[in-house]
Amino acid sequence: MPDKIRRLLPLLGHSGGSRDAMTCLYRCGNACDHPVPNVSANPYLGDVVNVEMSRRGVVRAGAVGAMVLGFGGAAAAAAGPAAAAAPVETAATLGGRPHGKAGKLTFETVAPNTLDAVTIPAGYQTEVVLRWGDPVEAGAPAFDLHNQTAAGQSKQFGYNNDFVGVLPIPGSKDRALLVVNHEYTNEDLMFPGFTGLDNLSVEQLKVAMAAHGLSVVEIERVGRTGRWKPVKSRRPHFNRRITALETKFELTGPAAGTPLLRTAADPSGRVVIGTLNNCAGGVTPWGTVLSGEENFNQYFVGGDQAPADAKPKLARYGFSTTARYPSGNRKWDRAQERFDLAKHPNEANRFGWIVEVDPFDPDAPPRKHTAMGRFKHEGANVIVARSGHVVAYMGDDERFDYLYKFVSDKKYIDSKAPWARKHNLSLLESGTLYVAQVAGDSPATEIDGSGKLPSDGKFDGKGKWIKLVSGNKSEVPGMTAADVLTFTRLAGDAVLATKMDRPEDVQPSLRTGKIYAAMTNNTNRGVGTNAPADEANPRNANKHGHIFEIVEDRGDHTGTSFTWSLPIVCGDPKAADTYFGGYDKNAVSPISCPDNVAFDSAGNLWISTDGNALGSNDGLFATAIEGRERGHLKQFLTVPKGAETCGPFITGDDRSVFVAVQHPGEITGASVEKPASVWPDGDYAKPAVIVTWRTDGGPIGS
Ligand code: FEO
Ligand code: CA
Ligand code: CA
Repeated sequence: MPDKIRRLLPLLGHSGGSRDAMTCLYRCGNACDHPVPNVSANPYLGDVVNVEMSRRGVVRAGAVGAMVLGFGGAAAAAAGPAAAAAPVETAATLGGRPHGKAGKLTFETVAPNTLDAVTIPAGYQTEVVLRWGDPVEAGAPAFDLHNQTAAGQSKQFGYNNDFVGVLPIPGSKDRALLVVNHEYTNEDLMFPGFTGLDNLSVEQLKVAMAAHGLSVVEIERVGRTGRWKPVKSRRPHFNRRITALETKFELTGPAAGTPLLRTAADPSGRVVIGTLNNCAGGVTPWGTVLSGEENFNQYFVGGDQAPADAKPKLARYGFSTTARYPSGNRKWDRAQERFDLAKHPNEANRFGWIVEVDPFDPDAPPRKHTAMGRFKHEGANVIVARSGHVVAYMGDDERFDYLYKFVSDKKYIDSKAPWARKHNLSLLESGTLYVAQVAGDSPATEIDGSGKLPSDGKFDGKGKWIKLVSGNKSEVPGMTAADVLTFTRLAGDAVLATKMDRPEDVQPSLRTGKIYAAMTNNTNRGVGTNAPADEANPRNANKHGHIFEIVEDRGDHTGTSFTWSLPIVCGDPKAADTYFGGYDKNAVSPISCPDNVAFDSAGNLWISTDGNALGSNDGLFATAIEGRERGHLKQFLTVPKGAETCGPFITGDDRSVFVAVQHPGEITGASVEKPASVWPDGDYAKPAVIVTWRTDGGPIGS
């Protein structure tokens, strides 16, 4: 059955609410119902001088050291030149020359709607590439909803696709590897007759574990269009499932092998089974995929019986230390004892990392890079600095958590030679990890939490990257390098990192070298005893989120200082508390809860949303981010009922945009028998990856 495609539908009214309760339960273990894990007293840096004076002797040494860096002095550096033009996502040219012309986006704006369909502009087409249950590995059985097995799911496309990367196969213009994260499962919508997690069989729990992880699937362009479809993998056979159930991962970096990472099953502390809650990610210039392990806490039980010294660390990562089965728990301890922290407290430390997968080597074990820190990783995106070092930008997706960057010790070698690739594959194994500390340049009295612009007309200021660890050397007093890397949130607390409004995807623009981070929302901002609004997070009870732009001083991505501003403060453009780069707000689309960011080769910023709080389905948006069109945001696509818009990935020739439609029909009360969405096939809801292209073969967007 063809996908239901509709366009330009009327606004169907705002029904309020953000994520559905069912999404909260399954995606992040009801994180928002639990107390904010960051209870550190680190203040916003705009106020830090006063705080230092009043709290001298209380603030830890590391924090004082951080403050010495200060924020006075030199004026903001202008946007530096872009980094060395190494190919990253948008330069992964699939047979076409980058069009390169930033400017007016000419597609017809898609109106907000609540349809159970993918809606796209006139003149475009869209199609499902892969859906849950489709065969991936050789020998995959046909999907049978009523007889799901872990062995079958381990060879089939997993559930709840999130990150999407498309990597051209060297030497081929029309073949590529599609790499997809499968963040989490929703057992209510997977198993007919579902009556509760407690009633699932152990086999069903294992099906859920096998539906997590990643898929690597060879795809082929259809003719000269922007359409792509899965193809029978030639030799070498790249198609591959990576799961939470049984895939072996290698730990690399300074924390690998340390006692914090050893368990009864793995006394080496170097081999982990599985990956959990893989959310967003990135494609590296050397042709691998990075994947962030995000809400991994929800898979564990028994935190109440964990050793006393482990409890504060568990709590900082959102594990319950008072209940055996916290709300939202997945009950996986019934299938594998390692998920019981009462018995295996260190198993928790083996998740929360950045995973690197080499899709071109199906036999290579995926790796978890401890040098990049452990937190609720949304994803990681790499840019090659002028010096040749690679720099990965990363967000910790939790209310009041931090922004990070990693700078490699070694330099990237821009060569396709096997020896160069082998070298590049080691780049993320050692380096320096930094956390961001930001301050506004407007008086604190002008930031009243309403979203009203300060008198200088901008939410903007300066920032510092505070060093947490360099190679094996800790920069945080009282913590070893392994401590800093394994309990990175605590290290960030110690150096007074800035509490942000849920930092999600962070992406450098290869055109300008500027970095863009999505702050999804934070309805706890300024509520109760939580940190109040500041210039970088300027709205209390922030429902709609904002985009945070970083310009590294002197254009040096390895440096330690930057300027920042908020180009977009999301919401209904009619509302006074929104801002779209100064563009006429009558001409922009409403947007709520930005989550993933990407660029086309023209340098336009594409933003996908998660949890629209304006009553529409989630969507994909695009805007120029430089010049006169900066802030002219237009909606390109919406996803079906209950779904979230993930990915997106725009191919290097700008001919195709891939989107992961995650959790369609995830609305409380829905089930297989009573689906809230029947997308994409008309029977029951299935997460799926879609590709959208211009009917006339032209570049997407313009
Ligand atoms: Fe999985 Fe941060 O969204
Ligand atoms: Ca300002
Ligand atoms: Ca996300």
